[in-house]
Amino acid sequence: MKGHKIVLRFTAKGMPSFFNQFTGVIGAMVIIVLFLNPAMGQEKDLDVPYASTPPDVVEKMLDMADVGPGDYVIDLGCGDGRIVTAAARRGAFGHGVDLDPKRLKEAREKARKANVSERVMFVQEDIFKTDIQQASVITMYLLSTVNEDMRPRLISELKPGTRIVSHQFGMGIWDPDKHIILGDSYMKGESLTLKEQIEKINHEIYYWVVPAQIEGQWKWQLNGNEFTMNVQQNFQKFQANIISGQDTLVVDNKKLVGKKISFTASSPGKKMHYAFNGKIDEDRQIKGTIQIHDPDARSIKKWEARFVK
Ligand SMILES: C[S@@+](CC[C@H](N)C(=O)[O-])C[C@H]1O[C@@H](n2cnc3c(N)ncnc32)[C@H](O)[C@@H]1O
Repeated sequence: MKGHKIVLRFTAKGMPSFFNQFTGVIGAMVIIVLFLNPAMGQEKDLDVPYASTPPDVVEKMLDMADVGPGDYVIDLGCGDGRIVTAAARRGAFGHGVDLDPKRLKEAREKARKANVSERVMFVQEDIFKTDIQQASVITMYLLSTVNEDMRPRLISELKPGTRIVSHQFGMGIWDPDKHIILGDSYMKGESLTLKEQIEKINHEIYYWVVPAQIEGQWKWQLNGNEFTMNVQQNFQKFQANIISGQDTLVVDNKKLVGKKISFTASSPGKKMHYAFNGKIDEDRQIKGTIQIHDPDARSIKKWEARFVK
């Protein structure tokens, strides 16, 4: 019954851009294809039907994630492998994952023609089961609902700092760090084929950086005083309060990008102002720098915070 899953996904909740506009058309096409062409039966196992990302959109996705040598790119649902092959042309290594053997064959052929076969692979696996931990960049052109189903794995299994780029679809409650819309919509009520729709829509690109887990209590010492910070985290966004002695500091300018954290904190009446900047390591310690903006004595100190609970 997975084929019905495809139909439902196309007609289900919150499809942005062209899937919103073409739900009916695409839903009808998928139903016709599935019922009139038994050879397409194998597509029942797919969570997303095949459609390719246009080459200029591929390049924009790779630009956004700043893909280059030293990166390992995994394309979830790789189709003809164009994203992994384009990443390899920039010096990255990587592999594509797809369930459809026909696409994998095309992908290997494309990589061979581009002379990058020695540093890319294409594997027949399910995106929900495949190992993603070694990626420094994940690329996707799936669907909002499928992205949302993938979200728990992306957050818990990828290393903090891993970049994720998605063509066309967001990830529900996880706001992107960046989001761009390319091109003008050509949609003026014409009846277009699926291929034309994909070529002529506004292409959107979503970009996230997997944040380190910082929720909880942190402590550090500064000039003989203990500082306690309580953090509530919502993906890359967080709320924090800092207590030092009798003072509760006002925390501002908060930023969490992968393992990197920075914020400012001011004492009541803004008598003292601190700027914190550090990196969260695997042992849940933050190491970095504190600027102390004391009107009488400005100084720069080491910041070493430990996670308490
Ligand atoms: C929209 S295409 C994207 C192709 C390519 N990434 C691109 O951007 O040009 C989605 C691909 O996901 C594959 N796919 C769908 N469900 C899958 C699953 N559960 N596991 C692996 N691949 C899947 C399909 O075969 C299809 O090739």
